[in-house]
Amino acid sequence: MVVAADPPHKHDENRLSANVRLRMLDNALNEEDGIYSSDVELKRGGKSFTVDTLAHFKGQYRGAELFFIVGGDMLENFPEWREPKRILSMAKLVAVSRPDKLRDMNALARSIEERFGGTVIVSEFNGPDISSTEVRRRMFEAEPVDDLVLLETEHFMYRSALYMPDEIVSIRSRLASVIRKKRLNHTMLTACEAVKLAHLYGVDTKKARLAAILHDCIKLPNKELLEYCEQHCYDISDEERKNPYLIHARLGAVIAMDEYGVKDPEVLQAIQNHTLGRVGMSMLDKIIYVADKIEPTRDFEGVDEMRKAAYDDIDLCMLMVMRHSAEYTQASGRAVNPATQSVMDYLKKEMEKNNGQ
Ligand SMILES: [Fe+2]
Ligand SMILES: [Fe+2]
Repeated sequence: MVVAADPPHKHDENRLSANVRLRMLDNALNEEDGIYSSDVELKRGGKSFTVDTLAHFKGQYRGAELFFIVGGDMLENFPEWREPKRILSMAKLVAVSRPDKLRDMNALARSIEERFGGTVIVSEFNGPDISSTEVRRRMFEAEPVDDLVLLETEHFMYRSALYMPDEIVSIRSRLASVIRKKRLNHTMLTACEAVKLAHLYGVDTKKARLAAILHDCIKLPNKELLEYCEQHCYDISDEERKNPYLIHARLGAVIAMDEYGVKDPEVLQAIQNHTLGRVGMSMLDKIIYVADKIEPTRDFEGVDEMRKAAYDDIDLCMLMVMRHSAEYTQASGRAVNPATQSVMDYLKKEMEKNNGQ
């Protein structure tokens, strides 16, 4: 699979750099046997002409029969490619076509053969109808893409905020300067999970993405967190002083508003509630709480059961996560927050209510 460094026939201002596209391809081919990525066009530089690429492979694999596989739509402007006759003298051209376009494609293939010689094969493709335009649109609009791309690719796009609106891209770059890389990946993948959950539970997916990306915007080591509060005259409770970890959620909402300009109270509330939850929490609150704990880099014992529960019954998943956190807190010798029990009772009631319906 050859990554086009600078395709002469495609002009797109928003195209990702060739290096990023190569990384995405490598990511996607990770588990594939017998398919390799090629950076020959990147190394060559300049406009990427197929004729040069084929000459390269012709030299590399002397005596081999080459097939050059392209999407059916590429056939339409094939006559305008550089040296079409030479292309067809070096390789057989294979155009992959959807069943409904076969007739047109075959006619086109014959006319190309007549004009330039060589062989053009039209190959029927019955796989899923996946459009890269649709993938980009959904990434922009915060809609799930897991039915269109591989999981690795989905995670890669989220980690790098690919195809997302400028506002999100700039929040990500700002975060990159204040939180560590590992945490940045965690927040971006929390967004990936939150979007899917929000879509499933009928919550605004854009709000879920924004809240997820900012949920740990002030996650600092305890000492730094306390210093930050002192410097900014930010009041903290006794409970928070004992457990400075708790501060980052409440403070995170303040920072999201003051420094990142978030005005939406639902988004701010979800950030604020992501460590302790609250009685009467909204669906968005639950989604951020849960996505934070089950995002793909989490690998503690029991996380797979939580992942499954998240998509079946989010209240049950909340309970599982809260129990897990309470056990962890106790095991590390700290007292469980007094609010935890009332939130758990509330969730149990919610589940009874929903199951009774
Ligand atoms: Fe957090
Ligand atoms: Fe987090």
